[in-house]
Amino acid sequence: MKKTIVLTALGCLLAAVWAVAPGAGALGAETFSKDIAPIFRARCEECHRAGGVAPMALSTYEQSRPWARSIREKVASREMPPFHAAGPLGRYRNDPRLTDAEIAAIVKWVDAGAPKGNAKDMPPPRSFDDRAWAKGEPDLVLKVKQPYTVRASERDQYSFFVFDYVFPEDVWIRSVDTRPGNLKVVHHANTHVVPPGFKVPEEGFIAGDFDPGARGTVMMAGWAPGVEAVFLPEAVGVRIPKGVRLGIQVHYAPTDTDAIDETRVGLYFADGTIRKNLRVLFGDRRDVEIPPGDPNYSLTAKKTFDADAIIHFYHVHMHLRGKSYVMKLTYPDGREEIGIDVPRYDFNWQRTYVLTSPLRVPKGTQVDFTGTYDNSAKNRFNPDPAAAVRWGEKTTDEMMQGRIFYEAVGEDLNLRVKKGRVVTAADSAISEERDER
Ligand code: HEC
Repeated sequence: MKKTIVLTALGCLLAAVWAVAPGAGALGAETFSKDIAPIFRARCEECHRAGGVAPMALSTYEQSRPWARSIREKVASREMPPFHAAGPLGRYRNDPRLTDAEIAAIVKWVDAGAPKGNAKDMPPPRSFDDRAWAKGEPDLVLKVKQPYTVRASERDQYSFFVFDYVFPEDVWIRSVDTRPGNLKVVHHANTHVVPPGFKVPEEGFIAGDFDPGARGTVMMAGWAPGVEAVFLPEAVGVRIPKGVRLGIQVHYAPTDTDAIDETRVGLYFADGTIRKNLRVLFGDRRDVEIPPGDPNYSLTAKKTFDADAIIHFYHVHMHLRGKSYVMKLTYPDGREEIGIDVPRYDFNWQRTYVLTSPLRVPKGTQVDFTGTYDNSAKNRFNPDPAAAVRWGEKTTDEMMQGRIFYEAVGEDLNLRVKKGRVVTAADSAISEERDER
């Protein structure tokens, strides 16, 4: 009799262990200190920390606990971390998405009552140096004329700053980096090449909601929290022509107090041999005409690669009605492949999508750039579902832009470049002599 009871109790114990073991991997449930904090450190703190762009910090248990329900919802729906392209994890560089296992761990942790766990399991704090340039001191740093005051506002605000510096000659660069002056308010910042005729007021900036691209600038780099500057591959460069200036459009998030910002742009000049100019295949349309309330309006632009190409990165740009964007590649043999798919476009989180493995496509490959818009009341960003929407420079107007950045396989410019400047045969003989000393 006694023996049977013991066996039954043991059986229960085994059953209990069995029930816990598979998912948890260990006997206990997920705790913040041991299982969740490492994920937050790696995937959330960039934005969710004191002074970061997100509304709350997630650096400690005490900061995170009150948000447990909301965190569960946002990670399970994959709204957080913000990333809007589809495709396997790791297809793009700096892919911030969580793995299925990480999402499962967070969900289980919240469902178990969000336990704190043992303080000694906490990973060391992560420190951020927001002033420092990711790749060391740039060759040229551009600053706004004077620190800019962002007034307290419940709305998003935009300012386009044009730097005084005029390029005295053509310069080849490999990268542009951006250091926001105030992470609490800088939501994103896009650097543009500004043509010589562009009118800039005395104070050096134009405040307000407009797309500088509509006034003739060309966007060349974008910054958003957690997005690293793109460094072009060896021997590939971008030429900034003599006589232009650079400008930066900063998107400021709503802020309940006035804030000071002084965003800087740093350029890294090319050195050595430049063989290829970074090229861009544009998939733009201006004949946008979205009927009021239309939940599913699409436009397609078709372009063809005129050389064998190696695709490095993609960029898409629409405004508040933007819903999704796809670039479909059709090879000369008829085979089709998705270049990039952004199923949940979000104007607030535009970024450049850099392929981890560059994609080689043959000459004659056709690209269908398709932007889709939601002008219905279901689109929570829609400022006015009753409006017919056309192309224009305000975020309440629309744009349809797709960009594929690539190098042409056969190109060989064979330029010798020092600190961004092309050196002539004579110059290079002199500099080589100097190098030898
Ligand atoms: C690139 C910056 C960034 C990263 C990385 C990020 N977030 Fe966020 N998060 C934000 C911003 C900004 C908001 C405010 C809403 C918005 O703009 O989308 C937000 C909002 C949230 C909210 C909603 C808060 C509310 O008001 O209800 C939750 C929850 C959240 N994030 C959790 C997370 C978690 C968990 C992670 C990591 C797994 C994470 N976020 C990673 C920027 C980020």
